[in-house]
Amino acid sequence: MKLWERRFKDRKEDPYLEEFNASITEDFFLFNSEIIASKAYAKALHEAGILSDEELSQILNGLDKVIERVKAGVEARKYEDVHTLVESLLIDEIGDVGKKLHTGRSRNEQVVTDEKLWMRGRIIGLIELLKELQRTIIKVAEENFDVIIPGYTHLQQAQPVLFSHYIMSLFWALERDKDRLLMALKGLTSSPLGSGALAGTTIPIDRDKLAKEMGFRGPTENSMDSVADRSFILDALFAISMIAIDLSRFTEDFIIYSSREFGFLELEDHISTSSSLMPQKKNPDFFELIRGKTARFISYLTSLMVTLKGLPMTYNKDLQEDKFPLFRAFTEIEEIIVVFNKCLLGIHPDQENILRKMASFMLATDLVDYLVAKGIPFREAHGIVGELVYTAQAEGKELKQLSLDEFKKFSPAFEDDVFEIFDFRKSVERKKTYGSTNPEFVRKQIEKAKKIIS
Ligand code: ARG
Repeated sequence: MKLWERRFKDRKEDPYLEEFNASITEDFFLFNSEIIASKAYAKALHEAGILSDEELSQILNGLDKVIERVKAGVEARKYEDVHTLVESLLIDEIGDVGKKLHTGRSRNEQVVTDEKLWMRGRIIGLIELLKELQRTIIKVAEENFDVIIPGYTHLQQAQPVLFSHYIMSLFWALERDKDRLLMALKGLTSSPLGSGALAGTTIPIDRDKLAKEMGFRGPTENSMDSVADRSFILDALFAISMIAIDLSRFTEDFIIYSSREFGFLELEDHISTSSSLMPQKKNPDFFELIRGKTARFISYLTSLMVTLKGLPMTYNKDLQEDKFPLFRAFTEIEEIIVVFNKCLLGIHPDQENILRKMASFMLATDLVDYLVAKGIPFREAHGIVGELVYTAQAEGKELKQLSLDEFKKFSPAFEDDVFEIFDFRKSVERKKTYGSTNPEFVRKQIEKAKKIIS
C-alpha cells in the first residue's frame, strides 16, 4: 500500500522494483520510536488547532491499537517503510481521522527523529555493557595482580610489567570509548520534528514543546540541515568502531599469548574450539571472530561516510541506506562486548612458563638507570650497556650470567650490587612514576577505576 498512490493513474507496480525501493525490512526496528514521535506529533497538531480533543484521543488510542496489531503480527512487507506502516495501520484502525496525522509532516523528518530516539536508548545500554566489561577487567586484574609478564614494543620483549597493569590498560581505552559514546549522545539532544520535508511547515507547530514532549532539549535550528544531517549516526558509528578496534587489539594479544610459542595464557575449554581434522588443536575462535568482525564496524562507518559525501542538499533516497549500518553496528557490537566479557573470564596467565620465556636483557634499561645512579651520564651509560648486551649475545649468554669482572671491563662503576638488578619483580617495584607498573601505582589505578564505575 502506498501513501502517495493517487499521484499516478494506473501505475502498474513492478514487484521487483517496489521491493528494491522499500526499506521496511531494514527500518522496522524504528517502530517504537515511530509511535512515540507520532503521538507527540498528534499532540502538537492538537495544540496547533488541527486536531480536536476528540480527534487527538482517537489518534492516540489508535496508535495503541497499532502497537497491539503489530504485536499480534502483521504482514510488514506490504508496506514501504515503518512510517508508512504505522500511518496505514492507524487509518485501518480509526478511519478518516487517521488521515490527519500526517498534516505538515514528512517522512524526511520522521526518519531522523526516530533514529535519534532509538539511538538514545541504545547508547545508554551500550555504556552499561561497557561498564560491566570494565568490572570484569578489574576482577581479572585483581585475581592476577602479582603476575609478571614481558611488556612488548615492536612485539619484542621490552620491559617487565605486571599482568594487572597490562589488562588495566584496556579499562582506560574503554573509558575513552564510553566518553565518545557520551559525545554521540550529546548529538542527539535536538529534535528535527517540525522541519517538514525540508522547508518547515505552514502548520504553527510549537517545535520547542514538541521536542520536549519526546525528551529532546529543544528543536534543531535549520529545517534543511535537519533532514539532511546524518552526522549524529557517524559519531556513534565511530565510537562503536573504536570499541571494536580496542577489543580487537587485545584479542590479538590473547591469540598470540595462548599459542604454544608463547604459552603465556591458558584458555578454558569452553572458550576454545578444536579442529575437525587435527585432534590436538585448541583454537581461540571466539577471539579470532571478534578480531575478524571488527572489520564490519569499520565498513559500516565508511559506507555511511561515503554515502553522505556527495549528496546534494537536502534529502535524497540514498539516505535510506543509513539504517543498515546503524542497526547492524549497535546490534553486533553488543554481541561482541558480551562475548569478550565471557571469554576474558576464561583466560589464565601461566606465571611459570612466562618467567621461563623472559630474557634478562629486558632489564638492560634498569642497568642503565643503575649506572646513572652511580653518577654516569645517561647517554654514556646507555652506550656501556649497549656494548654489554652486544658482547653477552655474541657469547650466547644472558646478562645475568656475566661475572662482576666481566661487568667491570665495561665500566668500573659496576659493583657487587649489580646482580640485584636481575630481578623482574624488583624492576617493576623500582618504577617511580604515577601510572607506572609499580604495584603501588597499579593498586591506586584499580582503586580509581573502581570509583569511576561505581
Ligand atoms: N524510508 C525512507 C528513508 O529511510 C523514509 C524517508 C522517505 N522520504 C522520501 N522523500 N521518500 O530514508
